[in-house]
Amino acid sequence: MEQLAQYKESVRTTWSAGDYDAMMRQEGLYDVGSRLVRTVGVRPGEDVLDVACGTGNATIPAAQAGARVTGLDLTPVMLARARERAGGLEIEWVEGDAEEMPFSDEQFDVVLSTFGCMFAPRHEVVADEIARVLRPGGRLGVCTWTPAGVIGEFFRVVGGYFPPDASYVDPPLSWGEEDHVRELFEGTGIELSFGREVSVIRHESPSAAVDCYATKFGPVVLARQALDDRWPALRDDLLKLFTSYDAVLPAEYLVIQGRRASRA
Ligand SMILES: C[S@@+](CC[C@H](N)C(=O)[O-])C[C@H]1O[C@@H](n2cnc3c(N)ncnc32)[C@H](O)[C@@H]1O
Repeated sequence: MEQLAQYKESVRTTWSAGDYDAMMRQEGLYDVGSRLVRTVGVRPGEDVLDVACGTGNATIPAAQAGARVTGLDLTPVMLARARERAGGLEIEWVEGDAEEMPFSDEQFDVVLSTFGCMFAPRHEVVADEIARVLRPGGRLGVCTWTPAGVIGEFFRVVGGYFPPDASYVDPPLSWGEEDHVRELFEGTGIELSFGREVSVIRHESPSAAVDCYATKFGPVVLARQALDDRWPALRDDLLKLFTSYDAVLPAEYLVIQGRRASRA
């Protein structure tokens, strides 16, 4: 489908803009990947896939835990930064689509994704792909922003300045709702459990928070360019949002854990 291919090209452009790695370091969000690897209990020698791995949030700690790790992402710029961050760690970095994973059935003991698979447009397609590549008895660990949390609010504020996404793009924040995720994995043989965690993001001031997103976070860097003389209005709305939290953002996310049934 031509439109879907174009959409994915725009996704690459979006995540190539700004400096995602600098933002993640500034906001302390690389802790989320390390925490997820501990929660799922990644063990040495396991085959682990990090879906939409970006700059390696979960990929790198999984490799540090001794697993054989593959990071999959659509955006070459993100993968290049991930490689640099990984230093001498042995990790297979693969450019590819979460909706059409270039992997065999039942290839992985563990599938992880932090704020990653939620951005692929067709949720059911991605969930089916995750289930396909997971071995019987395998584990799943996914972190997704919740719609009710401050990052959910942030995406709604930015999205309010643009026309709604096309009908073939499922809303990313739905991955932060338990009922939706349960529906996605129905019939896959993966039994799910849910938890919620909060990562506290601290900026020096509300305007420093706006500056961070406007210069480093691809979706806002591009929004600023596209909006042109409407940018000050979005800037003010973001400033209001961050001021309401005094620049200390309690970023809530859903932790989705799953286990695929073992073969009888
Ligand atoms: C918010 S970043 C998260 C990156 C990383 N997992 C993290 O926790 O920092 C979203 C990532 O999803 C990737 N992405 C979006 N759609 C994708 C798709 N269909 N297949 C693979 N990666 C995708 C983007 O390229 C980007 O690197």
